[in-house]
Amino acid sequence: MIVVLLGPPGAGKGTQGERVAAALGVPKIATGDVLRAAVKDGTTLGLEAKAYMDRGDLVPDAVILGIMKEALAQPAQAKGVILDGVVRTVPQAEGLATVTRELGRAVDVVLVFDIADQLLVDRLSGRTTCDKTQKPFTGLQPGAACPDGCGGTLVRRKDDEPEAILNRLRVYHAQTAPVLDWYLRQGANVARIDAVGSFDDVTARALKAVGR
Ligand code: AP5
Repeated sequence: MIVVLLGPPGAGKGTQGERVAAALGVPKIATGDVLRAAVKDGTTLGLEAKAYMDRGDLVPDAVILGIMKEALAQPAQAKGVILDGVVRTVPQAEGLATVTRELGRAVDVVLVFDIADQLLVDRLSGRTTCDKTQKPFTGLQPGAACPDGCGGTLVRRKDDEPEAILNRLRVYHAQTAPVLDWYLRQGANVARIDAVGSFDDVTARALKAVGR
């Protein structure tokens, strides 16, 4: 099963993507995580992506299509995969359709996380992230040890600064929201999820939408 997660920054794609992936027993690919790891390692990809990410702009489509193609070709994804934030422009959605078609597969469900912008600003301003696993946390300060005991330290993402948050929201509405219309025009199986509520309630809605 190939599941595409769509939604604005802070909607809970990462949090719920992990949970849905665990429930389905499939891996999750998050382009944000791939890019942050590349920035941390100082690779060519990371050097190219860093400035876009810090501002809250999108990394160019060609870069994302390369990551997408490589990731989907991995045998670990044969049973299925959760694609978290992998598709953020219409050309990326078209690219994913081409890649999956070439592999004899198709996107099964598009999960759209619905939430008001003001709640997102609050969520992202209060988020810290483990520098080792990239797992997000709420209500914990930067510099604290990761509560999962993985040895990581909690950090504030550069794109969780106020100016970058507002830019990410602008970018989402201008460039990513049209992807939903594109999927609807294609007749895709689109499920809208209310992203407000307890973590467990949102997970239950997402799992119902993927038939669990
Ligand atoms: P990425 O890392 O994917 O950032 P994003 O899309 O902005 O999403 P976030 O990770 O900020 O939020 P989320 O929806 O995963 O929410 P989370 O679960 O963390 O991408 C970063 C950058 O990489 C992009 O800006 C771009 O530059 C680049 N990039 C990546 N993919 C790209 C692509 N395809 N094309 C071009 N560029 C790309 O939750 C947020 C917070 O809320 C957490 O603290 C969490 O604990 C909390 N929370 C979650 N659920 C709830 C709940 N139900 N109630 C209360 N709090 C909650």
